[in-house]
Amino acid sequence: MPTHTSAPSCSVSLFDERVLADPYPTYTALRSTGPAVHLEQHGVWAVPGYAEVHAVLKDPVTFSSDGGVALTEQANSGILADSMMARDGEEHARLRQVLARRLSPRAVSKRREELSSRAHRLVADHTRTGFFESVALARQMVCETSGSLVGLTEPENSVLLAGTFDVFGPDNDRFRQALPEAAAMRAALERALSRETVAPDSLAAAAYTAVDRDKLTEPEAVALTCDYATASVDTTVLGLVETIARLAQDPVQWTRLRKDPDRAEAAFHEALRLDAPIQGRGRIVTRTTALGGVRIEAGEQLWLLYGSTGRDERKWGARADTYDLVRPFADRHLALGEGSHQCPGVSLALMQARCLLRALAHRCAHLAPAGDLVRALHNTVRGYTSVPVAVELSPHAGNATSPSAARRPR
Ligand code: HEM
Repeated sequence: MPTHTSAPSCSVSLFDERVLADPYPTYTALRSTGPAVHLEQHGVWAVPGYAEVHAVLKDPVTFSSDGGVALTEQANSGILADSMMARDGEEHARLRQVLARRLSPRAVSKRREELSSRAHRLVADHTRTGFFESVALARQMVCETSGSLVGLTEPENSVLLAGTFDVFGPDNDRFRQALPEAAAMRAALERALSRETVAPDSLAAAAYTAVDRDKLTEPEAVALTCDYATASVDTTVLGLVETIARLAQDPVQWTRLRKDPDRAEAAFHEALRLDAPIQGRGRIVTRTTALGGVRIEAGEQLWLLYGSTGRDERKWGARADTYDLVRPFADRHLALGEGSHQCPGVSLALMQARCLLRALAHRCAHLAPAGDLVRALHNTVRGYTSVPVAVELSPHAGNATSPSAARRPR
C-alpha cells in the first residue's frame, strides 16, 4: 500500500445543495484523491472507499462512535449523548443485547405472515386507481410495522421526519432547523412510550422488563426504545421508495422481479448500495493510526461515506453504477453498516422490502413514473419526497388500468 507523503485534502463542501443533489461525482473525485481525504471546510477526514470504511467499522477500539457520530459537538454532547449509537465497548454491548435479539432473523421470520398481509392490503389500496405515490405507500407500511414493533399504540406517532437526521451534519441551516424538530420528536416519543401506555410484547415493554431486572435504568430504557423508533422508520421508507423508483424506471429489472419474486431482497439491496439512505456517519480516532497509508492523529474525526462505498469500482467493478438484480453478492454493501454497530434492524427492513415488493410484483404488470421524481436535500440522508408511479394491474388483480390512462389524483 502506498504511503502518502503529504496528506490528501480537498476544499469541497459536502453539504452544499449542488453536492447533496448529486454527490456521486464528488465521491468519485474523493476516491481518486486518497483513502482518507482531509475536508478543509469541515475539519474532518472523509473516508470514501469500500475497503477503508469496512476496516474502520471492524475496529471500534481505534475508531470510536463515542462522541463522534455527528459532525458537531452540540449534537454529540446533546441530542445524541444518551444514544446507543454513540456508545462503544461493554457499555454498547450491554445496551445492544437488550433488544437486538428481538430483531434476529428467526424472530422476524415469525412476523412474515403479518407483514405479507399488510403489504398485500396496502398495495391493493394504493394501486386501486392505477396510480400511487410510493412515499405514501412505503410510509404507511413502515409506520404500521415500526409502530407495533416498538410499542406505539397510535402508529402515526412513529411518523418521523427525514430532516431530523440533519442533526448529524455540520452547523448549517438544515442542522439549526432540525435541532428543535429532533428535540420535539424525542419528547413526543417519550410521552407515547411511557410505561403505562406501551403495548405488551413490544420493544418498549421489553426495555421496561429489563429495568425491572436491573439490566437497564429507566432513562436508558426510554433512550434505547427511542433509538429503535427513530432509526427504523425513515431509513426503511427511503430505501423502499428508492427501490420502487429504480424498478419503475427500469422495465428490464421490473420484469426480472416479476418472473422471479425471490429477487425482491436483491432489488432492495441494490437500491441501498446505489443510494444509501444514510450517506455518512462519523467516528473519532482514539489513537494515531494509518488509514490506507494516510496518517491520522488521535482525536481527529472521520466521516465515513457509506454512499460512496456502494459506487466504489474497486469493489463493484466497472458496472458499479448499474442497478442489477442478478449482481453477485449484492448484499455485501455497507449501507446497513458493519461490525459492532451494524444495523440491528436488517432482517426487519429486508422482510418489509420482500413483502412489499412481492405484493407489487403480484398485483402490477407494469410500473412507470407518472411525473417528476422529487429528491429531498438533507445533510446525511438521501431519498425522495415524491415518486409518483402509474401501474398497469395484472389481469388476476382485477380492475386493470393502463399506465397511460392513469391519472394522478388531485
Ligand atoms: C433500509 C433500512 C435501514 C438502513 C439503511 C439502516 C442503516 C443503518 C446504519 C448504516 C447503521 C449503522 C450506523 C453507524 O455505523 O454508526 C444503523 C444502525 C442502527 N439501526 Fe438501522 N437501518 C435501517 C433500518 C433499521 C430498522 C428497521 C431498525 C429497527 C427496527 C434499525 C435500528 C437501528 C439501530 C438501533 C441502530 C444503532 C445500532 C448500534 O449502534 O449498535 N434500523 N442502521
